[in-house]
Amino acid sequence: MLVLGVESSCDETGLALFDTGRGLLAQAVHSQVAMHAEYGGVVPELASRDHIRRVIPLTRRVLAEAGLALGDLDAIAYTQGPGLAGALLVGASFANALALALGIPAIAVHHLEGHLLSPLLATPSPDFPFVALLVSGGHTQLMRVDGVGCYQLLGETVDDAAGEAFDKTAQLLGLAYPGGPALEKLAEGGEPYRYKLPRPMLHSGDLDFSFSGLKTAVLMLARKEGESARGHLAAGFQAAVVDVLAGKSLKALRETGLRRLVVAGGVGANHALRARLDAEAKQQGFAVFYPPPALCTDNGAMIAYAGARRRVHGIPADGRFTVRPRWELAELAAPR
Ligand code: KG4
Ligand code: ZN
Repeated sequence: MLVLGVESSCDETGLALFDTGRGLLAQAVHSQVAMHAEYGGVVPELASRDHIRRVIPLTRRVLAEAGLALGDLDAIAYTQGPGLAGALLVGASFANALALALGIPAIAVHHLEGHLLSPLLATPSPDFPFVALLVSGGHTQLMRVDGVGCYQLLGETVDDAAGEAFDKTAQLLGLAYPGGPALEKLAEGGEPYRYKLPRPMLHSGDLDFSFSGLKTAVLMLARKEGESARGHLAAGFQAAVVDVLAGKSLKALRETGLRRLVVAGGVGANHALRARLDAEAKQQGFAVFYPPPALCTDNGAMIAYAGARRRVHGIPADGRFTVRPRWELAELAAPR
């Protein structure tokens, strides 16, 4: 089964071809980061318009790369939510119109399910069940994953998402959007323990997170200490986020009794987080899995893959042309 994946939930237009027999055949992403940079964040209306410009050329590009034609497609998977309504509508309209014209199903995919399953596109890939740490610009969640469509929320952020905290902290340290990679780079030259920063909710007894207080603590210190403190504050912020994400992930593994941890979403690209989780895994004897580096941030491959897995497991395409800007992953239907 050959599936075209369409991702347009935020500021990346992603297209990809996934074949259930042959794997990932082609993928292309256009990032709008440069366009939004001068505004310090994503401008929804500009994002929608840019998706319109990119979606058809990128579809042509992945088909050409794989040496395939529209007629070879068996289904089209698209991100139905969560995300920016206007941006989602572009991908949803394109996918539904094309599927209708070709007489094939359009499969609605939850963006976070795409992220969650993306480590299955790497080798080696994890077996079910596993604990997933989902850390993106919009979400920070720990989930128990028993199979495709079987997701149980263990804990989540009560305020900012981890990626959002990276972006906001980077901005107050004078770095360009998106802040995660820029802050990681600035942190390289800093001492993580020069300033005392909080580890919010690390010992709260549950699996929830909070990052807004940490950002405020950095803001206060940045005002007080000035320019020379920037590198140390970046390093300190990153170390605090890593401590909390690692601490809660270990707690989730202990509580569920599972021995596999899967990390997904943009913040999963962070090297300090990976180094820490790899070290903990070695020491504590569990396995940790990441998506291939190119598939950490938003892309069409994870959407094509999630759509294909849903079809293979007999989960019906819901056939409704709609978008869901707000949509809880735990609401997803499990295979019967
Ligand atoms: O998953 P993603 O591409 O988009 C969403 O669905 O949100 O995640 C983007 C987020 C941004 O907040 C970005 O700053 C963060 O991931 N990010 C990072 C790194 N690379 C991307 N955060 C920390 N370190 C990184 N290397
Ligand atoms: Zn994402």
